Amino acid sequence: MESTYLNCLALFGVGGAHPGGLNLTRRILSREKMDASTKVLDVGCGTGQTSAFISKQYQCHVTALDYNKIMLEKAKKRFHSMNLQIETQYGTAENLPFENDTFDFILSESVTAFTDVSKSAPEYKRVLKPDGVLLAIEMMRETDVSEKQMKEILDFYGVKQLLNEQEWRTNFKKAGFEQIEVEKVELRPDIHKVDVSNDYSLSKQIDPSFYKIFEKHHHLSILYKDILGCGIFRCSV
Ligand SMILES: C[S@@+](CC[C@H](N)C(=O)[O-])C[C@H]1O[C@@H](n2cnc3c(N)ncnc32)[C@H](O)[C@@H]1O
Repeated sequence: MESTYLNCLALFGVGGAHPGGLNLTRRILSREKMDASTKVLDVGCGTGQTSAFISKQYQCHVTALDYNKIMLEKAKKRFHSMNLQIETQYGTAENLPFENDTFDFILSESVTAFTDVSKSAPEYKRVLKPDGVLLAIEMMRETDVSEKQMKEILDFYGVKQLLNEQEWRTNFKKAGFEQIEVEKVELRPDIHKVDVSNDYSLSKQIDPSFYKIFEKHHHLSILYKDILGCGIFRCSV
């Protein structure tokens, strides 16, 4: 298996692998109206921490999708152990295996930056109901960067692009979202650090090279603390 950042998160089974973790998720969702009739897609669900929270807290109908089979297996295990009726689906954000107008909410927690936004954003719009809402917590470029810095960030994280706030807005607008609210998240280096999470589901065998990836992630999050920000995007029509 390739020593990539995402494979590292999958092998360690990091739950809440987005800036701000579950606490930020709780805060964002507390502003929304959700109940047992609400259909939610957790795109790039990882090990399913957020899906499990939403299902338990709001009794919503939750679908958890990921393209990483290790992540999806770990999510299934979590849902089973918690006795939660959550649908799991293998698939990619760029080609969602759902009918048009299916969901009331889509959550993308540190996922869309890893996708080709020109394809994933229109897919979100397509599978959301006309009054549906996309909530995305995503990595955002705060300052200009040199070519070398950009390459180091794109290569290490495997993100397809490193957009600033305006570029995110443009992509969501192009996809058909007209109302776009953005809130910046204050990040401290220790929030970037994924190992502050206490929610792990470790694979049986992890090559030592993957431990180095955590170290490099921590190093880069300090080195690029003024460049790498995070935004919460609330997009609707
Ligand atoms: C940083 S992790 C975040 C996981 C989860 N949302 C969380 O907050 O814990 C990114 C997740 O997005 C998934 N992912 C990345 N690109 C994807 C794509 N194009 N389609 C579906 N899933 C994707 C990865 O497999 C991984 O589980």
